[in-house]
Amino acid sequence: MRHKLAKRGADIAIECWRLDTDRRTAVFACYDGGVPALVHFGRKLPDSEDLEAIARYCMPNVAGGQLDPVVPLTLVPTPLDGWQGHPGIIIRGSDGRTVDPVWRKTELISEAENHLRWTVLESGDDVRFTLVLEVRFDPTGVMAIESAYKSAEGYRVEWFSCAAVPVPSHLPRIVDHGGRWTGEFQRQEREFTLGQHVRESREGRTGHAHFPGMIFAAAACDENTGECLGVTIPWSGGHRIIAEETPDGRRHVQTGFDTRSLNITRKAYVGWSDEGLNGLSDMFVSVVRSRLPKHVARPVHYNCWEAVYFRHSVDELKQIATLAAEHGAERFVLDDGWFKGRNDDTTSLGDWVVDEQKYPDGLHPLTEHVTSLGMEFGIWFEPEMVNTASDLYRQHPDWVLGPSNQPSGRGQFVLDLAKPEVSQYLFDAIAAITKSYPVTYIKWDHNRKLTSGVSEQTGALYRLLERLNEAFPNLEIESCASGGGRVDYGMLRHATRVWLSDSNDALERLRMQHEASRWLPVEVQGSHVGPRHCHTSGRVLSMNFRGWVAAQRHMGFEMDPRELTEGESQTLKRITNWYKDNREFLHGGRHYRLDSDDHEIFAEMFVDNDKDRFVAFVGQWGASAQIASDPLRFVGLDADATYAVKLVDTESIPTALNRNSAFPVGDANLSGAALMSGGLRCPNLFPASMLVYEGMRVK
Ligand code: GLA
Repeated sequence: MRHKLAKRGADIAIECWRLDTDRRTAVFACYDGGVPALVHFGRKLPDSEDLEAIARYCMPNVAGGQLDPVVPLTLVPTPLDGWQGHPGIIIRGSDGRTVDPVWRKTELISEAENHLRWTVLESGDDVRFTLVLEVRFDPTGVMAIESAYKSAEGYRVEWFSCAAVPVPSHLPRIVDHGGRWTGEFQRQEREFTLGQHVRESREGRTGHAHFPGMIFAAAACDENTGECLGVTIPWSGGHRIIAEETPDGRRHVQTGFDTRSLNITRKAYVGWSDEGLNGLSDMFVSVVRSRLPKHVARPVHYNCWEAVYFRHSVDELKQIATLAAEHGAERFVLDDGWFKGRNDDTTSLGDWVVDEQKYPDGLHPLTEHVTSLGMEFGIWFEPEMVNTASDLYRQHPDWVLGPSNQPSGRGQFVLDLAKPEVSQYLFDAIAAITKSYPVTYIKWDHNRKLTSGVSEQTGALYRLLERLNEAFPNLEIESCASGGGRVDYGMLRHATRVWLSDSNDALERLRMQHEASRWLPVEVQGSHVGPRHCHTSGRVLSMNFRGWVAAQRHMGFEMDPRELTEGESQTLKRITNWYKDNREFLHGGRHYRLDSDDHEIFAEMFVDNDKDRFVAFVGQWGASAQIASDPLRFVGLDADATYAVKLVDTESIPTALNRNSAFPVGDANLSGAALMSGGLRCPNLFPASMLVYEGMRVK
C-alpha cells in the first residue's frame, strides 16, 4: 500500500446530525467517514443552523511542528487519525504491541427525535474492531452516551473510554470530590492546565476517595448562575476519569474502567447547564429520581449499629425498638451481628443464618415486636464477603476472588460472584431470610477494597441485585461500603438509598450532604441522628443540630435512645414530626444550594414545583470571620409573589450573639424579588447550629 499525504482540511467531507431538547442541542459530525465527534453540546441552536460550518470551525488550524492533517476530537480518538492526546482506545495484539484501528466507515443505523445510533467499521476488508455508538437525550436534559466495542480474537483492550467529550475553554475550572472513611464528598477544585488530571479508583469499587463525576465550570459560574458541564459514569467497580488539555489547546474528558472482556460496553452521562451548578445538579438528580419508586414516603429509620454494635440481646433490642418507635421511627434496621457466630468483625461473613446463641427462637420475637409497633423490618448483609473463620470458607475456599497471597481487609476476603454457584448461594441465603421474616429492606454492605477492578465481579453483582429486586419487588436496598465507599449511578439503578458515611457527626454531615447533593437526590442520602458523643469524631453536638441535619435528607436515628434526656427526647420528637409532615414536599420539589460569602455557612433551599412554598436551612459550621454574615439571598422563588416567612425553630438562636436586632426574629412578609435580590438577614449563630425557615405564598 502506498503512503498518502494528508488531505487539505477544506476538502474533508463532513456529515452532521443533531439532537435537541427544549433547551439544549447536541451536534455530531463525522469527518471523512471516521468516528463521530461531538462538536456542539449546550445552548439550543436554531433549526436553520449550518451544522457543517460548526463542525469545520471547531477544528484547530495546523501550525508548524505538527502532523499535517486537521484532526477532529472524535468520540473515540486514535493515534492513526493524528490524535496526540490520550487515545479513546488502547488495544494490544498477542505480541504486546499496540494496534490502532482506522475507523472509516460510519453508518447511522437508527435515529429518533432524542436518539442516534451508529456502527463504525474499519476501512478495508479485514474488520478487526467494530464500534457501536449510541447517544440519547434523557427527558431530564442529560445526554447518555453508550459505546460498545467488539474485537476479533487475539487482542487485548487496555483502555476503552465511553466517549471523549470536549470541554470548551470557557469552562476552565475542574470541580470534583475526594474523600475518606467518615469524611466523604470533599470538594476540590483546580484549573485546567496542559496535561492530564486523572481520577482513578483501583479498588474494585467506587471508593470513598474518588466519586466518579467531574464538573467543568466557567470562571463566573456559581451555584445559581453561569455555565457548566458535568460527566459521570454509572459503574461501581472502579473507574478512571481523565480530563486533558492537549498542546493545541483542546480540552476533553474521557471515562472508563478496567476490563478483560473482548465485548465491552461503556456508558456515561453528560449534562450541560447555563443555570449554575444547581441547574446541573437538578438534571443529574432527575436521572436518579426517575428510577425511584414513585410516591413512597421515605420512612424514618432506626438503625441499631451505634447503639449495640455486635452485642445483640433480644430484650435490649426490643426496649430500643419501643423507644425508637415512640420517637417516630417507622423502619427498624437490624445491623451487623445477627448471624451465626458473628461476635466481632473477624468472623462469620458468609454464614447467613440466624445466630442461635443470640436468637434462640430465631428473629421472630424481635420482628414480631417491631411490626407490632407499626415499624417495618430491615436487615444488614455483606453478601460479597467472606471471613476465613466461617463455615462457608471451610467448605469453599476456592470461592474467594483473587490470589491467596492478597492482603485481607477488615479481616475478610471477597467472593467471586462471577461463579454461578456463588451467586446462587447468596441469592438463596438472602431469599431464605427474606421469606422467613417480614424483611422489606436490606442494608447491603461492602467493607473491603479489592486489589484490582474486575468488571465481571461488578456485572455479576448487578445481576444478583436485579434477580433479588425481581423476586422481591417490595424489597428496598441501601448501598453501603464502610459508609460512602460505593455511591454511584450504577448502584443507584438497584438501590434506593445510600449510606453516605459512617460518620454520624452532624457537623461533618452538614458539609458532606451539601456536596453530595451535586450528584444525588436528597431523598437517597441516608442521614441519622447519632449519639450525643459522636463515635467517629468525639464531638458532642446538640440534639437540635443533629436532628435538623438528619431531617435535611432521608432521616433516621442511630444511637441508643436510652441515652436521651427529657429535653433531647422532646426535641427529637418535634423535629421528626416536622420531617414527616414535610418529607413529601422536601423529596418532590427542587433543591438548591445557596451561595454564601461566609464560608462557615452551608445553606440550602427546597422549593415546591409551583413555587408556592419553600424551606430554607441555614447551617453554621464554624465561627464566622465577621460579626454578622451578609443577608442570605434565596433562589427559585416567584419574584412577583409575596411569601410569609417564618422561623420554624428559635431554639438555636444565642442571645450572646443577638443582643439587639432591627428585624423581628421570626415572621416577615416579603416578595420573591426581595428575598432573591436583597435577601434575608439571619440571626447570628454559634458553630454547629441550624436555622430553618418556612415560606408560604400569601399572594
Ligand atoms: C460498615 C457500615 C456500618 C455498619 C458496619 C457493620 O462499617 O458502614 O454502617 O453497618 O459496617 O459492620
